[in-house]
Amino acid sequence: MKGIILAGGYGTRLLPCTKVTNKHLLPVYDKPMILYPLETLIAAGIKDIMIVSGTGHAGHFLELLGSGKDMGIRLSYAVQEKAGGIAEALGLCEDFADNDKIAVVLGDNIFTDQEQIKKAVADFINQEKGAKILIKEVPDPKRFGVAELDGDRVVSIIEKPEDPKSNYAVTGFYCYDKEVWNIIKTLKPSGRGELEITDVNNYYLATSILTYEMYKDEWTDAGTFESLLRASNIIANRK
Ligand code: G1P
Repeated sequence: MKGIILAGGYGTRLLPCTKVTNKHLLPVYDKPMILYPLETLIAAGIKDIMIVSGTGHAGHFLELLGSGKDMGIRLSYAVQEKAGGIAEALGLCEDFADNDKIAVVLGDNIFTDQEQIKKAVADFINQEKGAKILIKEVPDPKRFGVAELDGDRVVSIIEKPEDPKSNYAVTGFYCYDKEVWNIIKTLKPSGRGELEITDVNNYYLATSILTYEMYKDEWTDAGTFESLLRASNIIANRK
């Protein structure tokens, strides 16, 4: 199993803080944001990890994290030339994955319970095929991909719906089999001009297997000032 952290995009919702640095290098309480998803993958037992960043300040990731040797892992880097979406950034990792199953985490997602992630990854290794997502009940689902559930089945996922059918946000942690590379090649840009990870998940839903787990502990993204502050407070309160 290989790990991928997607840290592209321009971080426009965090301007002017993102004018001279990358969103994923901003502090969440006492550490640069990127260290949280990295620790999430490491805790899940993944040692071979690729980080995809945007063009601006890409070298700073290398300066911060290096080869990964100090952390007992192996890091690789890729650069997404334009902000073409999460699924486009993921598409850059096909050679790196080398037909292995992958665990993907968005660079601005903070998960507090690494044990549950570890278990989800272990379950996915035993899953015959398909994909797995983590879902979290939130008060403001409109900002996320929103899942409609029926028992242990995902019925649909809608990206940033006007009128959400549930409060279940799809978090930025995904497990995929090697079919993901073919799926990405079929995608068309969405209304916001991006290849959407939600379209990848819906493709799995329609053609293969998409399992989910309800994430029980605290989770947040950190891509807006409000959520960045929330992320810092979540971490600070646990110290
Ligand atoms: C992205 C995904 C969305 C997911 C969210 C989790 O949204 O498109 O489906 O719920 O991450 O953080 P974005 O950060 O691009 O608004």
